[in-house]
Amino acid sequence: MIQADLIIEGAAELLTLRGISARPRRGEEMRDLGIIRQGALAARRGKIVWVGPTSELLNTVRPMAFSRLIDAYGKTVMPGFVDPHTHLVFAGSRENEFAMRIQGNTYQEIAAAGGGINATVAATRKASKQELKFLAKKSLSRMLSLGTTTVEAKSGYGLDLETELKMLEVIRELNQEGPTTVIPTFMGAHEIPPDFRQKPEAYVDLVITRLIPEVAERKLAHFCDVFCETGVFSVEQSERILRAAQSAGLAPRVHADELTDLGGAAMAARIKARTADHLLYANDDGIRQMAEAGVIAVLLPGTAYFLHLQRYARARDMIAAGVPVALATDFNPGSCMTESMPLILNMACTQMRMLPAEAITAATINAAWAIGEEDRAGSLEPGKQADVLILDAGSHEHLCYHFGVNLVGTVVKNGKVVVDAGHRVR
Ligand code: NIG
Ligand code: FE
Repeated sequence: MIQADLIIEGAAELLTLRGISARPRRGEEMRDLGIIRQGALAARRGKIVWVGPTSELLNTVRPMAFSRLIDAYGKTVMPGFVDPHTHLVFAGSRENEFAMRIQGNTYQEIAAAGGGINATVAATRKASKQELKFLAKKSLSRMLSLGTTTVEAKSGYGLDLETELKMLEVIRELNQEGPTTVIPTFMGAHEIPPDFRQKPEAYVDLVITRLIPEVAERKLAHFCDVFCETGVFSVEQSERILRAAQSAGLAPRVHADELTDLGGAAMAARIKARTADHLLYANDDGIRQMAEAGVIAVLLPGTAYFLHLQRYARARDMIAAGVPVALATDFNPGSCMTESMPLILNMACTQMRMLPAEAITAATINAAWAIGEEDRAGSLEPGKQADVLILDAGSHEHLCYHFGVNLVGTVVKNGKVVVDAGHRVR
């Protein structure tokens, strides 16, 4: 008998996402959620020890003293969301830009007029570590209530050594304090800081010779990301930064082809980046090269929506080409002010024509691959963290179909109930 201290039983659908463990899912594989009907799950000391049909539970699993038994009758049980692209840590807000866009100004025009990333840089430089942590914790708490149990967080609102380190230290402390797992990415090349406007090459040099070595030395990040875009960092500059990061032990990721077709997708393939993100303007060659190199496409439909871009990434073409697709919020104060993965899944379906099953794969197991957490998160399989959601929904489709509400009733993180009946309990 398998001993367990947490048992969830009777789920109308239990989405395991099990099966393929050597690589992210692509093509038709994205439609297979590994569903067990009338499913059950058992965990012990924070790890999943068994999943299977409820009818086999009694003969297989023995509850330990003080174990918790949760009845999921009529509900859907699934892995906690992994949000693999956020700018979680920042000070201030940019609701003025929201109103400016409604009046017809573009994201780029607003940035050129003194708003944009540099507005948040000014606020973040002024904020203390405590303030940044307090604000990020509020967002993490919202995310947790909406089912996100693992999140990636980028620096990039410092653009100087001191503030970039401050942000990464905040991210480290948030991860240590839990319950959410927070995976750090260094994004010193998020924008050219105001004092380097006339000499962007000098900033690229600073990132390569000062910032990356310091971040790597202090082991403050797993990944390095760059905003490769017209008017920000060129393909050549981005490639130089990411190769330097790679040599220092940081895995590369790219904000690629978000606003213009610059060749970011092809560059991501060339350097074998872990992911290329956004990709609204990625061309056919770029998509094909990403498929060949196994680069994961992290799609962020919330940003296209929030910026009124009138176009979305070509998810269908990417899936057809064999690119593994993941989904994320891109949570940040400028281009996508939402913590909600369920909302992003709805948009992925309605705006990019992803099927609900594909969107769920993209927000769980493929998202875990996007941030190197595939051994711990993204599926309900023995050996993984017991990060589990119980949805107030009789099937997984409801998660995408019933939008603008929160169907996440219970959240389990590392085997502990942290949200119960929609309320934070830990
Ligand atoms: O992913 N594209 C660049 N970075 C963010 C926007 C950040 C901001 O506007 O503050 C993004 O969309
Ligand atoms: Fe981003």
